[in-house]
Amino acid sequence: MRAAIEAFDEGADVALLSKIHPVRSHSGAAEGGINAALGNASEDSPEEHAYDTVKGSDYLGDQDAITILCDEAPADVHQLERWGAVFSRTPEGKIAQRPFGAAGAPRTAYAADITGHVLIQVLYEQVMRRDLRVYEEYFAWQLVVDDDRCQGVIAWDLLNGGLKTIGAKTVILATGGAGRLYAGTTNAYACTGDGMAMAFQVGVALEDMEMMQFHPTTLAPTGVLITEGCRGEGAYLLNSENDRFLERYAPNAMELASRDVISRAEQTEIDEGRGVDGNVLLDLRHLGAEKILERLPGTRELAMVFAGIDPIHEPIPVRPGAHYHMGGVDTDVWGRTSLEGLYAAGECACVSVHGANRLGGNALMETITFGKRSGKHAAEWALTNTTIEVPSSVESDAERRLKELLDRTEGERPWSIRNELAETMHVNFGVFRREDQMKRQGDIVAGLRERYERVVVDDKGEIFNNDLTQALELGFLLDLADGMIVAGVARKESRGAHARPDDYPERDDEQFLKHTIVRLDEDGRTRLEWRPVTMTKWEPKERTY
Ligand code: FUM
Repeated sequence: MRAAIEAFDEGADVALLSKIHPVRSHSGAAEGGINAALGNASEDSPEEHAYDTVKGSDYLGDQDAITILCDEAPADVHQLERWGAVFSRTPEGKIAQRPFGAAGAPRTAYAADITGHVLIQVLYEQVMRRDLRVYEEYFAWQLVVDDDRCQGVIAWDLLNGGLKTIGAKTVILATGGAGRLYAGTTNAYACTGDGMAMAFQVGVALEDMEMMQFHPTTLAPTGVLITEGCRGEGAYLLNSENDRFLERYAPNAMELASRDVISRAEQTEIDEGRGVDGNVLLDLRHLGAEKILERLPGTRELAMVFAGIDPIHEPIPVRPGAHYHMGGVDTDVWGRTSLEGLYAAGECACVSVHGANRLGGNALMETITFGKRSGKHAAEWALTNTTIEVPSSVESDAERRLKELLDRTEGERPWSIRNELAETMHVNFGVFRREDQMKRQGDIVAGLRERYERVVVDDKGEIFNNDLTQALELGFLLDLADGMIVAGVARKESRGAHARPDDYPERDDEQFLKHTIVRLDEDGRTRLEWRPVTMTKWEPKERTY
């Protein structure tokens, strides 16, 4: 939405296409806040924000892109405020900021614990105000590529059925992540990596795909996000011995260490038998009812509704869950991909500002700042280039592929493959990675891809055919899993979210201070390349919290 607003304001003719209603998009699940060095809660600066982000990324983030994010963030947040975002306030009336993990200052601007929800409402109001054309409930399935440039998308109309082609001089992918690759995830059912996979299928590179972030506090047993804002407000993490175990892993930052560090600590406690039914406990009780009700009302509601626990009186059982893909479509700092006319922004893109580990609160900021930048650039390009050409063969090929799938009457149902993929990714490509498990997962994914060729869609109808869309999403997920594993096996070190405790427990800057790049080659195989990290002024150092 931020990209669409910017493109419109630059003078372009814009349409927004979304597989769910825009206000239900998954950014609404970003609870705890958005990072910008406003300096409202203590001294702060974009420079410090950038340093924390570089360090948090375990030095894999591109430092030029990080500097842009942190420099532009304060004005971009004030813009949201002017548009009507109802941020929580300090007693003097400034935007309130809370501490978040691995941040040197309280930098996370928030609206209680529903920040993403608030921002989505505000952006949608701006979309409505501009009267932008919104194709709601259109499932984007394929990019139109002709004359070596992207010229639109082919989408399935969920409400009425049928493939529809939308021609466009530029396309900005903003489809979010692929957390549904995992059995335990904070991600909505819609998060199936559609944009990444569509780009991958037309030969565009994906970057750092092995870097999947596990959020330390996902609610047992559903995986619903319990915000880092709880720990920002002072909550403790406890093991079965009532021990604040982070003393042994991150003695300075404790519960406000970076997410990769805390997720590994939790998993170690659980694996070594100090968990509580496969979880650890997030204790808010000492914060008191007043603070919980004022700052964390959504968290309390989630815990009560989904786990039957009132955090005013009991600790919440939590565990690491797949949350955010640091990797994604390889873009420059204007959201441009290697395919002319194709852009990407937000979680589906890899600019790369998060490197091997994202700081909580930087994702919402990325969607805004790089959404804005990609909207601006895409509009400029569209206004200075001429025609759109969608060859009829592109549409007829898509129709034929879809008909083949729908005409099939026998085969395996997609859900069983999808479940198997999610369960095995969780076990074999999770918080800790081991060479034999990753390779086994590669074989499992290859087998699932073969089975996918014979998948059958029972529902042949036109209206809200979820059976069909879930089958198409499964194809996306399988392509992405393959790219992640190829990159993960090749990265023979531990860095950020990619932890190999047995064979390569240390970071290896000599050999691996570089990005993995995967792309599909001519015969449909995933090819791996490497690219150096862009460094400006921060040399890699030992990373402790
Ligand atoms: O914990 C959270 O509120 C999540 C925020 C984020 O991932 O940035």
